[in-house]
Amino acid sequence: MDNRLPIPSPLPRHVACIMDGNGRWAKSRGMMRHKGHRAGADAVNRILDSCLEAGIPWLTLYAFSSENWCRPRVEVEALMHLLHEFLKKEIKTLMSKDIRLHAIGDLSRLPEKTSILLQNTIDQTAGNTSLNLVLALSYGSRAEILRAVRKIAEESRNGKLDPSDITEELFCSHLYTSGMPDPDLLIRTSGENRISNFLLWQISYSEIHVTDTLWPDFTKEDFFEALRDYAGRQRRFGGV
Ligand code: FPP
Repeated sequence: MDNRLPIPSPLPRHVACIMDGNGRWAKSRGMMRHKGHRAGADAVNRILDSCLEAGIPWLTLYAFSSENWCRPRVEVEALMHLLHEFLKKEIKTLMSKDIRLHAIGDLSRLPEKTSILLQNTIDQTAGNTSLNLVLALSYGSRAEILRAVRKIAEESRNGKLDPSDITEELFCSHLYTSGMPDPDLLIRTSGENRISNFLLWQISYSEIHVTDTLWPDFTKEDFFEALRDYAGRQRRFGGV
């Protein structure tokens, strides 16, 4: 059966997702929270296919925040295990579907074996061009901004740059997202109207789509609904 949907226009070049609601999805089924995260990983695969079908070249997923380290140890371990499994299992898919992997965040905090696997996957997929998948891991936007400020201050102290050289472009080039386009569309699932320390600088002019659907239930139809919502927006970037 051909379940292709009409592709809305204009399309966002970059979609970012706050994948929320895994815990509630599991709880409503009397399951442990990690089962919700596992079902969330299946939704990730659906959305990768949806991006490829629509022709969206950038997708950023908030997979683990810097604050998520404070969750109970078993849940953190389950999430790290899931990430490791995802990388191990999906490398074939990333290659066959021409998807390039990137990661942003404080990757030094990841378990060593996962960090090595992550770097190998990033290197292996570096020549792929159909879709750029950015995983935000151990990511916090305030920490990212502070890190950029420290690097710029250091360069200024070393005489490599003058304060008058500090432009928006220079600042962007010190963020984890250097070289990536800003998200045009931010999707948050599970009905929460919050940004949760995600890409604070980069979403300045993003359109925001919040859906009540919990992330594990998020389908291609929901994704295309967000694209239709985006296509109907008038983006003015502060102009009239
Ligand atoms: C938020 O839901 C979700 C997370 C903290 C983890 C997101 C991870 C995945 C979707 C799966 C792994 C992804 C990859 C790329 C392998 P929550 O647990 O806060 O939900 P709740 O608000 O209902 O409790």
